[in-house]
Amino acid sequence: MKIAVLVGSNRKESFNKKLALFMQKRYQATAEFEILPIEQLPMYNQDDELTPPEIVTDIKQKVAQSDGVLFVTPEYNHSIPAFLKNAIDWFSRVDKVMVNKPVMIIGSSPGVLGTVRAQMHLRQILNSPGISALTLPGNEVFIGAVHEKLDESGNLVHVPTIQFIDTVMDNYINWIKKQSL
Ligand SMILES: Cc1cc2nc3c(=O)[nH]c(=O)nc-3n(C[C@H](O)[C@H](O)[C@H](O)COP(=O)(O)O)c2cc1C
Repeated sequence: MKIAVLVGSNRKESFNKKLALFMQKRYQATAEFEILPIEQLPMYNQDDELTPPEIVTDIKQKVAQSDGVLFVTPEYNHSIPAFLKNAIDWFSRVDKVMVNKPVMIIGSSPGVLGTVRAQMHLRQILNSPGISALTLPGNEVFIGAVHEKLDESGNLVHVPTIQFIDTVMDNYINWIKKQSL
């Protein structure tokens, strides 16, 4: 099974990137998780959508060929970071690569709310006609105080959080399998 991973932070020491790397390693026996370099996408421009740069075509192809998409996002000003929205805008046009794609969402922040507001926005965006993704129902992962839950090497070490993500990942993979029956 192939899962395309979209991380909503482009900073080197990103907690969310560390979380994505942790998940990629922890669940490697379950699926192949590929973190896509969406920070390299140019700003979406409708004039270019029929003749997009190669990086756009490459990333869209990987999303199209994936069995599911995992979003790992911070919250910026009560929403998702702009370059994550930019990737979604590219995905929503011409070959609409997110349509019916099974999605899992997870997010972390040093604050207490753990990206609640960003994830609410993301779910709304993913329900737009050009995206029409399927988001895993009944499972939400908000990791607050994330800086206290990673060790110096960036590994998630907070056991209750790990156990919760294990459960949600299990639910996600089983749900994807049911979608393809
Ligand atoms: C432009 C900007 C806006 C932010 N807005 C929010 C916010 O609305 N809510 C929140 O909980 N944290 C907010 N933060 C703090 C982020 O949660 C924090 O910087 C986090 O570490 C970013 O994720 P990352 O470590 O994966 O890069 C904001 C940070 C930046 C740089």
